[in-house]
Amino acid sequence: WLSPTIVVNNSDSITLNVLNTLNVPTTMHWHGLHVAAKNDGGPHQIINPNTTWSPSFKVRNHAATYWYHPHGHGQTDPQVSKGLAGMFIVKDAQESALQLPRTYGVDDIPLIIQSKAFDALTQIAIATEMDTGLFVNGTLHATFAAPAQVVRFRIVNGSSLRTYNFGFSNNQIFYQIATDGGMLDTTLSLTRLQLSPGERAEVLVNFTGMLGQNISLKSYASQMQTGIYGAAYVGNATDSIAGYSENFLNGADFDLMQIYVVATTNNPITTIPISLIPYSPINIADATKNRTIVLDTIRLLSFEPPSISDGPFGMNNQTFNMDSINEIVYLNTTEIWTIKNHTLVAHPFHIHDIEFNVIEKSGMPPLPNEQGWKDVVLVMPNDSAKFITKFTTFADNMVPYMYHCHLLHHEDDGMMASFLVIDTNNTSGVSNINFENNFSVYPNPTSDYFNIVSKNSQNYFVNIFNVFGESLYSTGSIQNLIRIDTQNFPSGIYFLKITSKNKIITQKIIINNK
Ligand code: C2O
Ligand code: CU
Repeated sequence: WLSPTIVVNNSDSITLNVLNTLNVPTTMHWHGLHVAAKNDGGPHQIINPNTTWSPSFKVRNHAATYWYHPHGHGQTDPQVSKGLAGMFIVKDAQESALQLPRTYGVDDIPLIIQSKAFDALTQIAIATEMDTGLFVNGTLHATFAAPAQVVRFRIVNGSSLRTYNFGFSNNQIFYQIATDGGMLDTTLSLTRLQLSPGERAEVLVNFTGMLGQNISLKSYASQMQTGIYGAAYVGNATDSIAGYSENFLNGADFDLMQIYVVATTNNPITTIPISLIPYSPINIADATKNRTIVLDTIRLLSFEPPSISDGPFGMNNQTFNMDSINEIVYLNTTEIWTIKNHTLVAHPFHIHDIEFNVIEKSGMPPLPNEQGWKDVVLVMPNDSAKFITKFTTFADNMVPYMYHCHLLHHEDDGMMASFLVIDTNNTSGVSNINFENNFSVYPNPTSDYFNIVSKNSQNYFVNIFNVFGESLYSTGSIQNLIRIDTQNFPSGIYFLKITSKNKIITQKIIINNK
């Protein structure tokens, strides 16, 4: 159950060898890590059975708790639910200078929280509403012997759907020190902490003087707002999630882990630090681009009309397409993204490549524990969230990053989209893109494939003709980018026709196949 915890230091250069011993393809995504798109492990970096994928990169993230999991198109929920997921801990010099528990498995404890459903043969079942099995680190009915001192829990909500509202059965105060992508600047005292799927937090719990006591880590889901998966209600009287109310966990307060306080270790940490690591949020005045992403329902052919609580869901009225790019971002641009939720279920919005600062949630400044570095934000029903981020370091004309809902069932159903980060000044060493008439076709001449990128997110169609005017290839509607495989074209000169709403462009391409 579950995958090993990976512990690295900021600035380390690492190679991760991912050997796929499954009999199906998979991918491996480093959730929260700032890496090049080709190393990101999204749906395009497929690892076939019995092959090894070996991305190498420098660790650029702040000290915090990240995680890794497969990300195959339509395969994330089955593969994560069946046990593929692990914690990825980054350490750095600033964090190391603080007086914090950091002995892994002793006073620095990973907690990967997941709810799972079972079928009649007690095997893991996917995409059902009956996820009644509560697992901590792959263990049902987990117990933990906590030393009577300050203990650090690194909590990952690795569930497919369920949000938790963590607290302790004795209502004791605990202290949040980190969010998804970094330490907070000041310790926050809490009695409840809500984490939706994909979100992480590090908390300190002071068990000093509690030797012999038993308490439990619980989720107080009865206190969660309507619309959050795991609360008593999602949807309204006429539109809700089929089967949702039959799951006794929804809206209930339940135990996740029993804690028995045992003897103190040598050199325990016994105090909670007040100030942590100062951070400077991105300056709102630096933003030069605003984007809006609407979370909505999609009517798929041969499906019932979509339900605004149950889906199928999409983004900006599209579902995920492996061959199309939804947004083009320019390297080193600071952007504000507004995520609007036009449905009745709360969706945890996650974006790859970068960490962001939430600047507004439900029209208000974010809560103190959402003010650090984040890569997931829960967007409430009929509501919105805004974040600011800067797309730095990595550009790639070809390989996209993803953004998506982190409810895995929604993601697999297509509530996901892609973006390219393009470097127009060629500062990242990746070849430049020149746009002519708002389109760029490259490489040309080519052998294996060429790409077409549109500059302004319009929809277009592509046809390829030979010199006799015979049509050899045509596409459906493309948004932004398409990669066309030319390996099976005989070498020669061809004509490419790009048809968009207001223009038809014809361009010569040369294919040199060996
Ligand atoms: Cu945790 Cu795109 O993923
Ligand atoms: Cu969703």
